[in-house]
Amino acid sequence: MDNKGKKKKYNLSRFIGRVPLCRCAIVPLRHFLLYLCSFKNTILLSLIIMKKYKRYLVTSALPYANGPLHIGHLAGVYVPSDIYTRYLRLRGEDVISICGSDEHGVPITLKARNERVSPQEIVDRYHSINKKAFEDFGIAFDIYSRTSNKIHYETASDFFLKLYNNGEFTEKTTEQYYDEEAGTFLADRYIMGTCPHCGNENAYGDQCERCGTSLSPSDLINPHSTVSGSKPVLKETLHWYLPLDKYEPWLKKWILEDHKEWKTNVYGQCKSWLDQGLQPRAVSRDLDWGVPVPVKNATGKVLYVWFDAPIGYISATRELTPDWEKYWKDSDTRMIHFIGKDNIVFHCIIFPAMLNAEGSYILPDNVPANEFLNLEGDKISTSRNWAVWLHEYLEEFPGKQDSLRYSLCASAPETKDNDFTWKEFQARNNNELVAILGNFVNRTLVLTGNYYSGKVPERSTITADDEAVLAEIRRISENTAEAIETFRFREALKEAMNLARLGNKYLADAEPWKVIKTDPERVKTILNIALQITGNLTIVLEPFLPFSMEKLRGWLNINSLKWEDAGRSDILPAGNQINKPGFLFEKIEDDVINRQVEKLMATKKSKEAAGSKAVPAKDPVSFEEFTRIDIRTATILEAEKVPKTTKLLKLKIDTGIDTRTIVSGIAEYFEPQSLIGKQISIVANLEPRKIKGIESKGMILMAEDSDGKLVLVSPLGKVNNGSLIK
Ligand code: 2FM
Ligand code: ZN
Repeated sequence: MDNKGKKKKYNLSRFIGRVPLCRCAIVPLRHFLLYLCSFKNTILLSLIIMKKYKRYLVTSALPYANGPLHIGHLAGVYVPSDIYTRYLRLRGEDVISICGSDEHGVPITLKARNERVSPQEIVDRYHSINKKAFEDFGIAFDIYSRTSNKIHYETASDFFLKLYNNGEFTEKTTEQYYDEEAGTFLADRYIMGTCPHCGNENAYGDQCERCGTSLSPSDLINPHSTVSGSKPVLKETLHWYLPLDKYEPWLKKWILEDHKEWKTNVYGQCKSWLDQGLQPRAVSRDLDWGVPVPVKNATGKVLYVWFDAPIGYISATRELTPDWEKYWKDSDTRMIHFIGKDNIVFHCIIFPAMLNAEGSYILPDNVPANEFLNLEGDKISTSRNWAVWLHEYLEEFPGKQDSLRYSLCASAPETKDNDFTWKEFQARNNNELVAILGNFVNRTLVLTGNYYSGKVPERSTITADDEAVLAEIRRISENTAEAIETFRFREALKEAMNLARLGNKYLADAEPWKVIKTDPERVKTILNIALQITGNLTIVLEPFLPFSMEKLRGWLNINSLKWEDAGRSDILPAGNQINKPGFLFEKIEDDVINRQVEKLMATKKSKEAAGSKAVPAKDPVSFEEFTRIDIRTATILEAEKVPKTTKLLKLKIDTGIDTRTIVSGIAEYFEPQSLIGKQISIVANLEPRKIKGIESKGMILMAEDSDGKLVLVSPLGKVNNGSLIK
């Protein structure tokens, strides 16, 4: 085809892919385009592209040490951070990967209380379980520390004191709930009561888990302390606040202007927080578990867990190396925080504000947060045991860590929540790892064994097809690198697997098993090239499949290579003796997968069965007490949704004695129209309450099903409105 006169297309992404990568943070394409389009400042642009970092500090969210890890943890945070770190190591960068257990916070004290053991016992247990799980899955942190370590207490206290002495905190006395019987202030989670929206009697002081409404303890009806059961009282308490409002202008510039390249989900969440306006945040709590507030008059007060946990990254680095300051205080370090989406505000707004207030630390250059992974269509839940636990996976799929790493990366929730299904896991393993990667490696190594007793044959004449394949190897490694550097790990994995696809196609086209009969010299070249592809696979797939690539290097009889070797066509020198191969991956059969699905279904059924049991009887009340409650029949005259709510209906009721309004949290269960004319039962003498500004006088009686479904309680026959129910 004649190209004359055709406008030459300029392939920008190819151009970026060719910017020298080594010791240079690649600027993401979006960032690049933005500068190109809006600033047209080529000097600035080249400065940014060429910004070299001397070292990398990779942090991964410190998981709470109050339960074991599941696949959601791996997919959201730890597989991506491990891929990124392994890649940087392959590039020969100075990189450290930091993680550890987050051992403070109310959930840990709650669990300890439930099990009647000390919080230390809980964190000791889960710290070692989780540390082992990470090791077992090849998540290669340089340190897995813990926030109950002495060095962390010192670091967090010093950090607080520096801000305190610099006058960065404001002090405020507020009223908080206090349990007089237990002599302790109560975190919101320690207070339970009835949800004003849906009537759930077991709502927490911060949230009703039935209707999902965020609450504060003062919203609860009949609040009681879960520590002693007594009714909490309000009592004054002093706390230290970080005035986030003061940092708002700086944060707006730093994030919204200087970090437009952050992932859309991260940038969007930050923008929404900043648009709403930041408020001062208390950095201390009244609790007996945590880092004590290191000032006078602070008995019984500890640092808020979200103040001390991110400082855990610093203390873990101090524990790792005496040279820790170069990672934290030198602007030539690129710091990246890997987290899940629920941690965004803490890592993008609060921790940077703390670091800024302290003054001597660097800030994260990127915070590639993932969304959530669901399991078989349902939210992963520890309390409902709806999870694939890492330690259980290993027991049931021994040696198959890479199959899970692969599957979790291939369907990672990078831009939106995603679903893990066992069927998809099986398909990824069987159709991709076994059929594409394993098959190519096996064919190449078996043919080399058969034809040349396992010695890498010499290459002779290279055809145009061979040249094209060799060029493609380099292109694939460059694309993989670019995707990893811009935190698009799904795409990076797909690209790296393209090398195995390329190998399969090359063998299928070249047909060495046929050509051996007519042109044995040519087969030497074909297998030499197939072996170079195999050698390259050990580089580009190492960050994703470290166990399998180690195995493959053993068969190929080569040491670990560097990323800069990727694309080389002499990775395996002629004459190199190859060992007898095994299988890289094994097929996973239907019955194995079905067993896993059945196990989950059994969990669901047993929860349902447990839920269907009638709730235990309440404490007896006297007849006298019972008669004080005015329960009567009534008819619904009008029904409409309360604007800007999802659960509330405003009902006009004829009670036989009057016509009144009752607001009820039943909008999810009934269409307003369907209620009109229904005869129901109500509690008529409940104290009036304002709900969303509407005075509600009374309560509609409902029967609550085991799965939370609500049914109206109606008289079986028609009676007058206002008939007493006794
Ligand atoms: O969400 C969590 O599991 C927290 N423990 C993460 C803490 S990350 C960091 F700040 F330590
Ligand atoms: Zn509720």
